[in-house]
Amino acid sequence: MDSPLRSVQTMRTLIKHVLTRSEPADDIEEIEVAGWIRTRRDAKAFSFIELNDGSTILNLQIVADSGIPGYESMPQLTTGASVRVFGKLIPSPAQGQDWELQATSLKLLGIAPDDYPLQKKGHSPEFLRSIAHLRPRTNLFGAAFRIRSRLAYAVHRFFQERDFVYVHTPIITASDCEGAGEMFRVTTLDDRTVSKDAGDFFGKRAYLTVSGQLEGETFACALSNIYTFGPTFRAENSNTSRHAAEFWMIEPEVAFCDLEGDMDLAEEMIRFLVREALEGQDHDLSICEKFVDKTLRQRLEHVAAHAFQRITYTEAVKLLEGCGKTFQYPVAYGLNLQSEHERWLTEEYFKQPVTVYNYPKEIKPFYMRLNEDGKTVTAMDLLVPGIGEIIGGSQREERYEVLLENFSHHGIDAEAYSWYSDLRKYGTVPHAGFGLGFERLLMFVTGISNIRDVIPFPRTPGHCEF
Ligand code: 4AD
Ligand code: MG
Repeated sequence: MDSPLRSVQTMRTLIKHVLTRSEPADDIEEIEVAGWIRTRRDAKAFSFIELNDGSTILNLQIVADSGIPGYESMPQLTTGASVRVFGKLIPSPAQGQDWELQATSLKLLGIAPDDYPLQKKGHSPEFLRSIAHLRPRTNLFGAAFRIRSRLAYAVHRFFQERDFVYVHTPIITASDCEGAGEMFRVTTLDDRTVSKDAGDFFGKRAYLTVSGQLEGETFACALSNIYTFGPTFRAENSNTSRHAAEFWMIEPEVAFCDLEGDMDLAEEMIRFLVREALEGQDHDLSICEKFVDKTLRQRLEHVAAHAFQRITYTEAVKLLEGCGKTFQYPVAYGLNLQSEHERWLTEEYFKQPVTVYNYPKEIKPFYMRLNEDGKTVTAMDLLVPGIGEIIGGSQREERYEVLLENFSHHGIDAEAYSWYSDLRKYGTVPHAGFGLGFERLLMFVTGISNIRDVIPFPRTPGHCEF
């Protein structure tokens, strides 16, 4: 047991390589595991320990006979304590597991006193948020964050398999992509009230980015198909279950592409990621099904198997006006669709994800391409049941003169954005892209209804703990 500390294989690796075989191979019969104790039961001459190391939802049952080295620390091996165990995998006589570990020695690593906050009973998500440093040790959050990791990897696979180039766009920026004035200012000035920018770190106003799109466009207009995947920040004071001040966005940008191609890519990506979640070779989605939404798998399979819908904004407004339902917010041509409207369209009317496109130009940002009607722009929002908007995108205005006009309509300093309009001046191309909110995707595939519970350390108005 006193061998030098080294990295122990995780239980997930163990399950993949050992526990799924019908017979344990000779060379791996004697193994070492380490983890945190979920429960312990003592019998006369031995103890049972349910051990979990967080790499998988599955616990490994340890059987420790009273004579083995390390057994004397058994009273301290309470829920939450950490331990290293050497032992042999043997077929388990108990139900619910194929193998158990017959311990040959064990070593207490860290005790967990009586005030360990995670006890066997279930805890509310609100309480667990207040102990976000211990939250990943619970079954549901462990599952949610493992799914988060796997889907992040799947995002890269989706694009890399299609020859998209991954671009790292800056977190600190001087431009406001969405033009909605929801930016966090970045400054080294002590006196935040000073309005002059001289003396500040960058010699000009700087902010945390709300989107990597504009920088992404410059790379698409050079490398053709690109994507970004990184953190974005919005100082919008909306305390909803779907908004966070810091969230991750995936933003593909495709050169030589129009709105149709953009909508196709968005749908293909959502289907890919939903299938990925469904096909995960572990029990994490089942945990979400058990604790969050009993119909989760069925819902996701329905999404994967049926075609998404597409309607124009004008058609959507007509459907909403005629639906006979009373909404909190008014519906009329020229107004933004609210989440309750989006959810009616996708949950009650189509019962399937739906892409709404061609919005009035007045309610959309400066970079969207003006349609022939002179009234609408090539915006598209992909809406999903349970959430509403999960993707927002558009074909971009590639005509130099039209873009300059948009600058002036939106009160944008053309000089400051000349780097952006230059893309239209020199070898302009039609191009399109979108942004997928990664947390909203995770809410969709896990059924978890509060965005705070799919973010390791959520930042929302008034909350920046840990
Ligand atoms: O619709 P949005 O604002 O679009 C853009 O930022 C474009 N520049 C994207 C592009 O075309 N490249 O945001 C895109 C998505 C939304 O559909 C939503 O899923 C998510 O980002 N999102 C948020 N997620 C969590 N918290 C917030 N405060 C969010 N704001 C937007
Ligand atoms: Mg949007």
